[in-house]
Amino acid sequence: MIVKTINVNLSDHRYPILVGKGVLGNAGTFLSRQGFTTPPIVIANPTILQLHGSKLMKSLQSAFGPSTIIKIQDGERFKNHATLMKIYEGMFRVHANRRSWVLAFGGGVTGDIAGFAAATFMRGIPFVMVPTTLLAQVDSSIGGKVGINVEQGKNLIGAFHQPSAVLSDTEVLKTLSKRELYSGLYEVIKCGAICSKPLLQYIEQRLPEIRKCQSVAMEHIILAAARIKADVVASDEKESGMRMILNYGHTVGHAFEAATGFRKLKHGEAVAWGMLAVLEYGRELGVLEPEATEKLMRLIQRVEKLPAIDGIAFEELWKALVHDKKFRKGDIRMIFLRRLGEAAIFNGIEADSLRKFLKRFLARSHDFV
Ligand SMILES: NC(=O)c1ccc[n+]([C@@H]2O[C@H](COP(=O)([O-])OP(=O)(O)OC[C@H]3O[C@@H](n4cnc5c(N)ncnc54)[C@H](O)[C@@H]3O)[C@@H](O)[C@H]2O)c1
Repeated sequence: MIVKTINVNLSDHRYPILVGKGVLGNAGTFLSRQGFTTPPIVIANPTILQLHGSKLMKSLQSAFGPSTIIKIQDGERFKNHATLMKIYEGMFRVHANRRSWVLAFGGGVTGDIAGFAAATFMRGIPFVMVPTTLLAQVDSSIGGKVGINVEQGKNLIGAFHQPSAVLSDTEVLKTLSKRELYSGLYEVIKCGAICSKPLLQYIEQRLPEIRKCQSVAMEHIILAAARIKADVVASDEKESGMRMILNYGHTVGHAFEAATGFRKLKHGEAVAWGMLAVLEYGRELGVLEPEATEKLMRLIQRVEKLPAIDGIAFEELWKALVHDKKFRKGDIRMIFLRRLGEAAIFNGIEADSLRKFLKRFLARSHDFV
């Protein structure tokens, strides 16, 4: 097993992120070294259990004996209150108590809801993330944001609850659909855009290997992006300042996602569109040099042709934007790049200027794919 470790150093909690080939088959050994002595309550959907469950369960079995598995349905629409109740019921059924622990095995949906169950069950029990999508390995499993969706919006009920460890096996990514892989890759590109020019250069050079999910390339980009997220989170645990830069491309991207009913675009694709829009707006405002703007746009475009957004009605987009919880009317804050690898928060963006820009961008969105 070739595994590398990054530590997330928070003010009152420190946890490791393990990245590499073969992590899954060694999960039990590693977690018992971390101090766990009893079997976990594994929360997962049937898709991931069928693909990679036996490797993980075998490893947990030899370290702890038989684990409980609570199955949840696959999909964002199940990241809700009903699924959460099902998880609690499953936990009570096996007499879980304050010494129990949860293992979230799956993509971001599983991590968010299983983490929230752990955050709230008996006022909080430990949990471990075993993320299985690229997006979850570089983003959602790190930082402690957990939660569910409600009718009023996505992720509106939640908590900050840090995992005890994150175990990312690069091999599991080989079964991901290309669309899911690229969706995660846009988040990796975002990390490079805000914090690391070398990461952008690496992706530029190794895109063919990344497309094939080649282990060395995947390990490199996951480590680099996870390290960026871990460092930013450590500097701002509750997202009051610095951590906002992780939302680069997200405010506008989220509005694209919402305006298409969360059906047309994957989260990462929406972020890619958000980055293209903010790059273009930054170019108009003279924030980032045209050459750097072009370079990053080209990289985003090279990954894959993004689904079209020209069908979005502008007023729907604007409504979604002003309703976003991160977007306060009258004091529009946006994240721009000053140069590749360096993001900055800009306050006082005029609503009228942004509105006019987005209208223009939407009208000529086909020029950007
Ligand atoms: N908490 C955070 O900080 C944070 C950050 C970003 C996103 N999120 C959340 O993450 C969620 C999106 O996560 P996601 O993109 O991982 O989606 P997902 O969890 O729905 O996974 C996507 C699909 O891939 C399948 N899958 C998972 N692993 C697989 C594998 N190895 N091989 C084949 N198929 C596999 C899943 O079953 C699912 O059908 C959203 O709910 C979003 O709100 C949370």
